[in-house]
Amino acid sequence: MISNSVFLKACRREPTEYTPIWLMRQAGRYLSEYRAMREKASFLAMCKNPDLAAEVTLQPIKLIGMDAAIIFADILLPLEPMGIKLEFSQGEGPIIHNSIQKESDIESLRVIEPEEDVPYVLEAIKKVVNELNNTIPLIGFAGGPFTLASYCIEGGHSQNFIKTKQFMYHNPKYWHLFMEKLSTVVTRYLNAQIAAGAQAIQVFDSWVGCLSPHDYARFVLPHSQKVFQGLTNDVPAIHFATGAADLLELMKAAGGNIIGVDWRVELGHAWKRLGYNVGIQGNLDPVTLLAPTAMIKERVKKILQSAENRPGHIFNLGHGILPQTPLKNVVALINMVHDLSKR
Ligand code: CP3
Repeated sequence: MISNSVFLKACRREPTEYTPIWLMRQAGRYLSEYRAMREKASFLAMCKNPDLAAEVTLQPIKLIGMDAAIIFADILLPLEPMGIKLEFSQGEGPIIHNSIQKESDIESLRVIEPEEDVPYVLEAIKKVVNELNNTIPLIGFAGGPFTLASYCIEGGHSQNFIKTKQFMYHNPKYWHLFMEKLSTVVTRYLNAQIAAGAQAIQVFDSWVGCLSPHDYARFVLPHSQKVFQGLTNDVPAIHFATGAADLLELMKAAGGNIIGVDWRVELGHAWKRLGYNVGIQGNLDPVTLLAPTAMIKERVKKILQSAENRPGHIFNLGHGILPQTPLKNVVALINMVHDLSKR
């Protein structure tokens, strides 16, 4: 039974024979098989083709053997049918051509129906679940409302999120309207992924760490909370952010059965603060995978020690795997985590 998989057991904080591991961005450019496919199709085209998306999702599973798969997609995909003009440019990352600047831009955003507006993601999920055939679970995901809003307002990636904060401070009424629309879309999108077969979900609120705890509590928490409370099925939910050391308790209050942390916090300290009634995911610095194997091993041991073999730890990087990561180090990492955590 898939519910007895190491990953899903750890999500429920049940004891497991070893610590499960998967990696954020595990399907991607560090794999030559992925790069070969990318030569023939753009990133968006790959996301929109369920056969290609399913194939890419399964590449790291077949080649390396993580304990969970994550559907190949992007947090920005549901923005397109909302009315956002999205492009992924080579080297620069996502670009939004009609960034949100004024009240009417927010008013005109559509609140989408995932089954009609992003059917390809749901189709890809069905294919992957079918192909995995209950060997390991599939994780669905969405961006957190704040992280999505920041891309829309900044027009792309940002260093300091000045425009986003300015909008929030100057026009709280429209900020909240925007966040309400986004949280409704994110809730529907996640529920559609669960209905399509995703056995766990992760909310990537990657950039929320740019906010003070006070601003997070006031401008973000109620909306993220609505997302977690709106999940229809009882699947485990991972709530992830980076650079969010002092937001962890607030993130827990917003929701999630597992909190995802990066390497800027000591995993054991973070877990103690959060309390052991939630799981924890993390938190190897992705740059460690560019270091000598002995150093990778030392850091893996440290993280496992700091989790104290407690049920509910899911091993992961603290953020996405880097494209220049040598495949052999990824294979070594998976084996190390499995071997060193054997109870
Ligand atoms: O984890 C997985 O393997 C699933 C696939 C996945 C992608 N994006 C594929 C992708 C997931 C979970 C994401 C989430 C995502 N997308 C986040 C949250 C996680 C994080 O990194 O903070 C964010 C912020 C985005 C937005 C995004 N998409 C950026 C900033 C970029 C460009 C940066 C980069 O790495 O190039 C993307 C493009 C993207 N998303 C790629 C992949 C594999 C690279 C596309 C390519 O092949 O050129």
